[in-house]
Amino acid sequence: MKVAVFDTKSYDKQSLEQYQNMEDIVFKFFEAKLTADTARLAKGYDAVCVFVNDTVDDKVIAKLAKYGVKAIALRCAGYNNVNLEVAREHDIKVVRVPAYSPYAVAEHAMAMLLTSVRRIHKAYIRTRDYNFSLEGMTGFDLHGKTIGIVGTGKIGRVFIDICNGFGMNVIAYDKYPAKDSGINYVSLEELFSSSDIISLHCPLTDESYHMIDDEAIDIMKKGVIIVNTSRGALIDADSLLAGIKDRKIGGACLDVYEEEADVFYADKSGHILSDDTLARLISMPNVIVTSHQAFLTKEALNNIAETTFINLKAVKDGAELVNEVRI
Ligand code: NAI
Repeated sequence: MKVAVFDTKSYDKQSLEQYQNMEDIVFKFFEAKLTADTARLAKGYDAVCVFVNDTVDDKVIAKLAKYGVKAIALRCAGYNNVNLEVAREHDIKVVRVPAYSPYAVAEHAMAMLLTSVRRIHKAYIRTRDYNFSLEGMTGFDLHGKTIGIVGTGKIGRVFIDICNGFGMNVIAYDKYPAKDSGINYVSLEELFSSSDIISLHCPLTDESYHMIDDEAIDIMKKGVIIVNTSRGALIDADSLLAGIKDRKIGGACLDVYEEEADVFYADKSGHILSDDTLARLISMPNVIVTSHQAFLTKEALNNIAETTFINLKAVKDGAELVNEVRI
């Protein structure tokens, strides 16, 4: 089985190469993202292996089908970038890695939150310049604060445990609340209006698209901190920026951004950033941006590589696809 791996970074290659040539599966690594233009690289391959910012829309899938590709192996949990209906029409299997390390993402969410509320990002820069002043560095205790968690799946639950450890008052919203979990579920409106901190851990769907918009921000507490390690388009970035400029939002910790596909995972330091909203958000002293990095731990990379290999082997052997994404 020949597999074309798109959007390959050094760390992807290192982890997947552990499985190179095992069970007759051969990986070929391409740095390019999968797009309508680069799809031709998949000619002669049995499967493509893609990540969060590869384009797997109807046009790309039609091309993959023409080239004989039989499977799309996602190296991630989310599949919002794949047109599942069109994949099914072309009889292309879509497999994913449903869980690789919920701890990686939940711990990153807490790292961002602590950085924001204790001004660590500012302190790091100040002390490197021998500026030991504490002016403007006052934070607040997380202990006793109300945190609203949207999405209580694998990552949301690990994050809830971490927040409980900090002595926070945890409330949550989930479209499908977990029974007998002991989680204090409230409506989304109540969560928005009574949380000091809001952290998003639900998937991006038609329903959750822009769940944080002008209307939602309107009902939030003044000074609310918003943490998003899930998917960028859960938040309307222009509304977020307006909320920050109005001093309504006290801080934003963003590991994901609606239009990240064109910028994240690349060194743009020598370029003029054409996305004004992102540039303005980054310029804010109370906004912290990481480039979709929450998953990036050694443990997660090894788990991603292992599950991807198992998924591809199952496709090759015609075995049951336990991690198939079905509509
Ligand atoms: P999961 O599938 O275990 O949990 C998702 C939860 O969201 C479920 O409980 C589900 O019922 C709930 N949900 C679905 N639709 C909802 C809605 N409209 N409103 C509220 N809740 C809703 O997923 P997991 O593993 O916890 O991952 C959560 C998200 O984290 C993924 O969808 C992905 O977008 C993101 N993620 C981000 C990573 C990063 O590196 N930043 C890495 C891995 C995942």
